[in-house]
Amino acid sequence: MANPSLLILPGDGIGPEIMAEVHKIIEWFGAKRGLHFDVSEDLVGGAAYDAHGVPLTDETMAKAQEVDAVLLGAVGGPAYDDLDFSVKPERGLLRLRKEMDLFANLRPAQCFDALAGFSTLKPEVISGLDIMIVRELTSGSYFGEPRGIFEENGERVGINTQRYTEGEIDRVARAAFDLARKRDRRVCSMEKANVMESGILWREVVQAVRDADYPDIELSHMYADAGAMQLVRDPKQFDVIVTDNLFGDLLSDVAAMLTGSLGMLPSASLGVPMENGRPKALYEPVHGSAPDIAGQGKANPCACILSFAMALRYSFDQGEEADRLESAVENVLSKGLRTPDLMQKEGSTPATTSEMGDAVIAELEASL
Ligand code: NAD
Ligand code: IPM
Ligand code: MN
Repeated sequence: MANPSLLILPGDGIGPEIMAEVHKIIEWFGAKRGLHFDVSEDLVGGAAYDAHGVPLTDETMAKAQEVDAVLLGAVGGPAYDDLDFSVKPERGLLRLRKEMDLFANLRPAQCFDALAGFSTLKPEVISGLDIMIVRELTSGSYFGEPRGIFEENGERVGINTQRYTEGEIDRVARAAFDLARKRDRRVCSMEKANVMESGILWREVVQAVRDADYPDIELSHMYADAGAMQLVRDPKQFDVIVTDNLFGDLLSDVAAMLTGSLGMLPSASLGVPMENGRPKALYEPVHGSAPDIAGQGKANPCACILSFAMALRYSFDQGEEADRLESAVENVLSKGLRTPDLMQKEGSTPATTSEMGDAVIAELEASL
């Protein structure tokens, strides 16, 4: 049988630096665990704009549709801030999500024990935290029409439209309930049904899916603003949170900071199954291209490494190898190795991006 295929899109800023560490880890799994991937690499974001004048070429898009999984670093940066909206680096990522129909974005927020003292919240509030945010990723105000900047009565008006069909809500609700079945069987759905019709429909559909097909799941509803407050007040009350595209973008950044650093959080974006039964999938860190630290060896590669662990679990049926990689990262942290984003005053050892990657490899070796 052919090896599973992986398209790597390092992107901009710290993207190539953190992806270099993932390359080492992929090689390790090939050499030591017999897990071989057909890896190809291509450009996305500002890097693609510089080479081709667009943030994602049609050829790269076609490749992404064919492979078993895509792994992306990050896109964007100040050099591209003044570009026309249609060719901004972020449009490349949004095109991948939309055309691959990656409607379910899984953003786990787990607090590693070694980092409990690092969060701005009290350790007892976050130690042992393990929640999963399921963010709808292909609809809502990111894609709704009409959109644009128009002239009206002699002034400009900027328009985006929050729009959800029943089908779009139904499928992401099912993704959240299916995940909850492998966890603590609790789902909290967040919208603003108090002010938005799309929120009213969201709440109705999520409840109907639960009542029809997931009676074993405990479902609650929360307004997203109150949800943001509860995430900071008592995050451990949650198991799975399901929410729309824009609220999910905000809530997942909040959840990221609970765990200490954006540099720790991976994500998986899953679509409908392909012919081989695998869901279309793109894996990427939650963080961006971190232009403030790019090129300095300061980036934390853990979020990107953990995104590859999610690929092992969700695309390649390698749950045990995913556990192995996640434990390796956890062990590195327990031993006190820290990139600058995780530096504490005492007792930790400073590490560069590649030292962190090497330490993960050493832990993988030790796991054999
Ligand atoms: P960011 O996530 O890039 O950075 C926010 C802060 O977190 C910065 O101080 C940065 O140094 C730090 N940080 C992020 N990742 C880190 C890591 N791995 N290790 C250490 N520190 C890390 O967000 P931003 O500054 O708002 O955005 C910068 C650019 O990235 C923008 O162009 C934005 O559109 C883009 N962006 C891209 C993605 C993506 O590609 N998925 C996600 C978010 C933002
Ligand atoms: C994210 C990012 C993206 C988003 C941008 C870069 C398009 O913030 O993945 O969270 O807004 O979805
Ligand atoms: Mn975001």
